[in-house]
Amino acid sequence: MLLKKAPDLRESDVTPRSWYVRRREFLQAAGSAAVAAAAGATAPLFDGTATALAQNPDAQKLTGLQKSPLSTDEKLNSYRDVTTYNNFYEFGLDKGDPARYAGSLKPRPWSVVVEGQCGKPGTYHVEDIMKWFPLEERIYRLRCVEAWSMVIPWVGFPLADFVKRFEPTSKARFVRFTTLVDTRQMPGQTEPALPWPYVEGLRMDEAVHPLAILAVGLYGEVLPNQNGAPIRLVVPWKYGFKGIKSIVRVSFDESQPRNTWQRVRADEYGFFANVNPAVDHPRWSQASERRIGEFFKRRTLPFNGYADQVASLYAGMDLRKFY
Ligand code: MTE
Repeated sequence: MLLKKAPDLRESDVTPRSWYVRRREFLQAAGSAAVAAAAGATAPLFDGTATALAQNPDAQKLTGLQKSPLSTDEKLNSYRDVTTYNNFYEFGLDKGDPARYAGSLKPRPWSVVVEGQCGKPGTYHVEDIMKWFPLEERIYRLRCVEAWSMVIPWVGFPLADFVKRFEPTSKARFVRFTTLVDTRQMPGQTEPALPWPYVEGLRMDEAVHPLAILAVGLYGEVLPNQNGAPIRLVVPWKYGFKGIKSIVRVSFDESQPRNTWQRVRADEYGFFANVNPAVDHPRWSQASERRIGEFFKRRTLPFNGYADQVASLYAGMDLRKFY
């Protein structure tokens, strides 16, 4: 999203040459390590025959899932779409890079540090976190800031339940999330594509809204690495970049955190990032989107179609200013 100015431009046209050359070197280096690790699982995704294979060799079925009334009944994108067309810059800049290279990520064992303005700070194993709450299937639209969208059957639990468990104090006005930093597991972090670690945040009322979830799976299985294993955020009324992957830290903050994309280009990517067809990105329109797998564009809906549920969170705010 940083580099592509128009769909018909090649990356080398818009990327500083030093990055472009370094990226090729990086991919070659990553190719020997990460591809070797992931080869067995990755290859079938690209052979054109298997559409529903698990990427993670440990992929386990998640059973006993509750169906959520908050799910959309729109047609799902295929497992293949959802797991091979990704943004996860820690593994490269191309949409296929996460599926190719994320085999180097080790999502188990994994712990999440909870800190800041709360009554129960600590370090918690993801396996334990997954046992605290009943897991639900939530089928949501995902609208990327790059003007494509998908429909994804996530498995997770309400972020509100997670937040409440740590007893945030009255000073906790924001929740900040941080992704792992480890150049061996995430070889893209040797590149300056983004300032690492990836950081995102929500205002407290957004975080406890019933639509916001922490996802630990999709298509009834544990999350594939390229989708943010073992635990990631999903906030369906916001652009996809708010959905931070592979979370290792959750902090209860007094002041608004500076998220990664604001740090990179504050004029293009805001803190709120609510899907808004009326406010164009400075370099492209946000009025319509291409659903992955479809030819014709669709109209983009305010708040990605979730306006009835969330518009009141922003009553009185100028959404052109707070984009
Ligand atoms: N989280 C991290 N840590 N790094 C990233 O590069 N990309 C974001 C978001 N979360 C990103 C991330 C963007 S731009 C999008 S659109 C979504 O992840 C894509 O999620 P998906 O690949 O599961 O569809």
